[in-house]
Amino acid sequence: MDSDFIELDGVEKVFDVRRRTGFLRRERREVRAVDGISFRVPRGEMVGYIGPNGAGKSTTIKMLTGILTPSGGRLRVAGIDPSRERTKLAHRIGVVFGQRTTLWWDLPLRDSYRLMHRMYRIPDRRFRENLDRCVELLDLAELLDVPVRQLSLGQRMRGDIAAALLHDPEVLYLDEPTIGLDVISKAKVRGFLRDLNAERSTTVLLTTHDLTDIEQLCDRVMVIDHGRLVYDGALAGLHEVGESERTLVVDLEREMPPIELASDLAVRVVRVEGPRQWLAFPASASAAPLVARLAAEHPLVDLSVREPDIEAVIAKMYAADPSRQAV
Ligand SMILES: Nc1ncnc2c1ncn2[C@@H]1O[C@H](COP(=O)(O)OP(=O)(O)O)[C@@H](O)[C@H]1O
Ligand SMILES: [Mg+2]
Repeated sequence: MDSDFIELDGVEKVFDVRRRTGFLRRERREVRAVDGISFRVPRGEMVGYIGPNGAGKSTTIKMLTGILTPSGGRLRVAGIDPSRERTKLAHRIGVVFGQRTTLWWDLPLRDSYRLMHRMYRIPDRRFRENLDRCVELLDLAELLDVPVRQLSLGQRMRGDIAAALLHDPEVLYLDEPTIGLDVISKAKVRGFLRDLNAERSTTVLLTTHDLTDIEQLCDRVMVIDHGRLVYDGALAGLHEVGESERTLVVDLEREMPPIELASDLAVRVVRVEGPRQWLAFPASASAAPLVARLAAEHPLVDLSVREPDIEAVIAKMYAADPSRQAV
């Protein structure tokens, strides 16, 4: 049971889209948003669910929460069929949609939380403990009395994450929780999720466009494209399949000719702009030896590592194996 906390077997979601094509004329079209997806997530796992825009990620999450009913296949969360027993399931799951808030727009955060306390009938002590913990770890103390509409995107997102956790859900679905966030907010959110998973064994399914989220949080990543699962495994494996590259952005003390490093590091300069240089290296390789060598041989001021973008990884995955079928 615990090894199959989330179960999907051939799950499908077909939308019937009607489009006006002229006066009194309409065209019907089927959109197979999710096209036969099967996977298992054991309790306590933190899984990335990635793919290009329109791949079917949000639709999957909506089915997992019971907001949408699958058109086919079988789906269970904690043994519950989400769309049939949505209310029962609601007490056991938390969900955060990056593009939409579950908070009351005109109310201060504190009042939204009070409403949730009632709605979910959270025992008083539990509520206070959870709220205190979220306020501390998500840095919300100064924000509790501010109406939600006055919060920045990053602040609101932290407020939304707290809201999703006040009732101690066993599983947390996050749909693009870091979209549009600044670097500091992203780091805060990631750190919080890591702790939550480690301390409470909360199962986390994370949809994201940012491979850095996955790298820092998830041991396992599933890639969805056109409604189908095209990869399920470790992030490093995905990089190998896609032969993707990461980029080291290096700031030198001054403008210099393109850096040359020993060929065993499989690195090449792809761009130079004044004192800044971009070095591409295989994403499955560690950046550590490269950074060590750079630091020893060049006057470094700063550096950062950039993950490849998801579209590029998926495109290369197909290029590497054109016969690639859904897993
Ligand atoms: N309510 C809807 N009605 C019709 N089509 C939809 C609806 N929701 C999503 N879709 C379509 O289903 C596909 C998958 O969408 P979505 O799950 O939102 O993708 P993602 O979250 O991966 O960007 C897209 O082609 C989208 O246009
Ligand atoms: Mg989406």
